[in-house]
Amino acid sequence: MIYFLLLFVLVIVFLFKGSFFSRGLPKGKLLPPGSMGWPYFGETLKLYSQNPNSFFSTRQQRYGDIFKTHILGCPCVMLSRPEAAKMVLVTLAHLFKPTYPPSKENMIGQNALFFHQGPYHSHLKRMVQSSFLPSALKDSIPRIDNLVVDMLPTFLNKTINTLCEMKKYAFDVAIISAFGTSMEVEIEEIKQLYRVLEKGYNSMPFNVPGTPFHKAMNARKLLNVKLRKLIEKERNSKKPAGTGGLLEVLLGSEKERDNQLSDSQIADNIIGVIFAAHDTTASVLTWVLKYLHDNNDVLEAVTREQDGVRCRISEANRNLTWDDTRLMPLTSRVFQETLRTASILSFTFREAVEDVEFEGHFIPKGWKVLPLFRSIHHSAALFPHPSKFDPSRFEVAPRADSYMPFGKGVHSCPGSELAKLETLILLHHLTTTYRWKVIGGDRGTQYGPFPVPKGGLPIVLSPI
Ligand code: HEM
Repeated sequence: MIYFLLLFVLVIVFLFKGSFFSRGLPKGKLLPPGSMGWPYFGETLKLYSQNPNSFFSTRQQRYGDIFKTHILGCPCVMLSRPEAAKMVLVTLAHLFKPTYPPSKENMIGQNALFFHQGPYHSHLKRMVQSSFLPSALKDSIPRIDNLVVDMLPTFLNKTINTLCEMKKYAFDVAIISAFGTSMEVEIEEIKQLYRVLEKGYNSMPFNVPGTPFHKAMNARKLLNVKLRKLIEKERNSKKPAGTGGLLEVLLGSEKERDNQLSDSQIADNIIGVIFAAHDTTASVLTWVLKYLHDNNDVLEAVTREQDGVRCRISEANRNLTWDDTRLMPLTSRVFQETLRTASILSFTFREAVEDVEFEGHFIPKGWKVLPLFRSIHHSAALFPHPSKFDPSRFEVAPRADSYMPFGKGVHSCPGSELAKLETLILLHHLTTTYRWKVIGGDRGTQYGPFPVPKGGLPIVLSPI
């Protein structure tokens, strides 16, 4: 009997498959081509049962650069043409709002800038950007340099997990950017709570005692308490201007009568920026080490460039400066090519705030729209031999709008210069002093959530 019922349900579902989502479409309007899969489940099972890149590329081959699908309970339109991505992220940005699962919004804090559009977002974005401009980053170079000089010798004579170590490095840099020279006892507690938050962020959102999600939500509440204490302290401190990182900039808004931020707005944005800054950068740094390991000629060329920088520094008897980092063209291209090849943010999400029509396709209000950065970066028409790691391709500027590792438009990344700086400083010391060997060979890629070498790239480091 039960089998009969199951069969009946499957037949009904099959009959409705396809017509289910096109119901209610205005006359003469056409949705993009593509399959919506099964009602409710859509194509989610297919996405999760295969490499996400082949999921997108097989559909792109079948339906073209703009196609529809249904994943994670949402009807979606995928865009793998640069012009279409630009349309959504820049030209028609007001019609497509950023969208995140509610559990993620609650964990980061609803006032964080990525969740907003309009004047509140612009006001915050200006402040965050000002905190990551070259003029602001210059002062943090000695501290980042010290982190690297202290960290690398601790890797010697043992197998280290590159991803774990890069996470620690990127996290410490994010903390420096967020709090400047504050060395309050609260910072240590904030770091510990943040680690609990991070563990729960990508877990199933079951807020039940004992689960990583529940622990993370509790850590988030405690983080609020600690951050508010720190905000209060900073407000009354007499520290010299320009030493307090993003926190000082956000507190500076208190002087602007109409634009003052509340304590929760400040706290949510500090947590948001630390969150956005560290897993992303750590994943890219892990790929840089893998690509340089696998491409010895590039590694040797980078080493020659960095030896030149080191000579200049030694002759002048000084430490690395901002100007030195501007004279690293090949190392900078390695960073660019790593961002393209690895495309760790494979796509981003937007949601249509009203019915939108573009390029002859109708996108209903409420549908998700995903610019597929990875597909664009791996298009053979835009980047010949796309799977080859070849930094020399950036000797010529890429075609306009075809390269967007940091997104585009109002929500583009304010941290691109910091991520580059962290990479250049690390590579300066690493390539001139050490060599590394990957243990276990090429194991493929894991997604957690960013694509990284499987197993986190175990390596053994030795002095040159
Ligand atoms: C290599 C490392 C990084 C990559 C690949 C990366 C990539 C991106 C991308 C693609 C976006 C746009 C997302 C969208 O349009 O939905 C973004 C936004 C953002 N990133 Fe990064 N990012 C990196 C590092 C950083 C760092 C170091 C910071 C620290 C300031 C940061 C802070 C942010 C913030 C705050 C946003 C949201 C901006 C907004 O909504 O206006 N990111 N990032």
